[in-house]
Amino acid sequence: MTAILSKESLANTLQHLPIPQIHYYDEIDSTNEQALKLASDLAEEYTLLIAERQTAGRGRMGRRWVTTEGSSLAFTIIFKPNKQEIGKLSLFSLLGGLAVCRTIQSKYGADAQVKWPNDVLMDSKKTAGILAETCWQGEKLTGLVLGIGINLLPGSVPPADELLFPATCVQAHCGQQVERLEFLSAVLGQIIELRNMIMKPAFMQEYTSRLAFIGQQVQLSARSGKTANGILVGVDNEGQLILKNEAGKQKSYPIGDLHLRPGTNQSNNT
Ligand code: BTN
Repeated sequence: MTAILSKESLANTLQHLPIPQIHYYDEIDSTNEQALKLASDLAEEYTLLIAERQTAGRGRMGRRWVTTEGSSLAFTIIFKPNKQEIGKLSLFSLLGGLAVCRTIQSKYGADAQVKWPNDVLMDSKKTAGILAETCWQGEKLTGLVLGIGINLLPGSVPPADELLFPATCVQAHCGQQVERLEFLSAVLGQIIELRNMIMKPAFMQEYTSRLAFIGQQVQLSARSGKTANGILVGVDNEGQLILKNEAGKQKSYPIGDLHLRPGTNQSNNT
């Protein structure tokens, strides 16, 4: 039986972490939406928002994100990037996927990879998604919110006909019962550890070491319908994806509204 999320159970489980405030909701539209409201105000770094149900959970590229009560995790953590980090905000987006991979490996000894920029795959199926959004007051960045949705238990996996990419849950791959509060505590610990090394070369090195599809043919598609095909070479220091085309020429693609999937050998139209 998996633990119930509540204000009290969260406060107890997370008391060893430097989280200044925990906002728990039985039901909310979207933890990212609420976090953006708080980030524009006085919320401190690592303020956590977590919900059992989201009525308007959102994903990348305007997609919907479904949070299944009792079997998944849906939370958002607020960051306050410093001046130096403002030029590299994309890295925060990568941090979430890396933290989930680390947690799966260290707690259960199971393998997980990041699908650029920040989906988490186990056995080539998606088990977590991340949505980073920023909050500005004029020219001033007041916060970056990192929303993370994780399929932990079998009930969290949406029906295949609703999916663009095959999905799975953590428990299906780690041969033991996954406990939601324990997982949450571990992943928040990893987020805090990685946040302290986000500007160091070791961060991108570790990210690259966990990148799915390296050396394979992939296709990037934009919402406009434009596509780019090539061999996935890696990511640069800004987190941009590097593809090599048929002529051997390398091109970088920024994190944005681009969707990556394994591909066939086709020409580019981006
Ligand atoms: C994706 O895969 O497209 C990203 C999904 C991000 C979902 C999380 S769940 C918590 C937070 N609140 C939201 O509305 N979205 C993010």
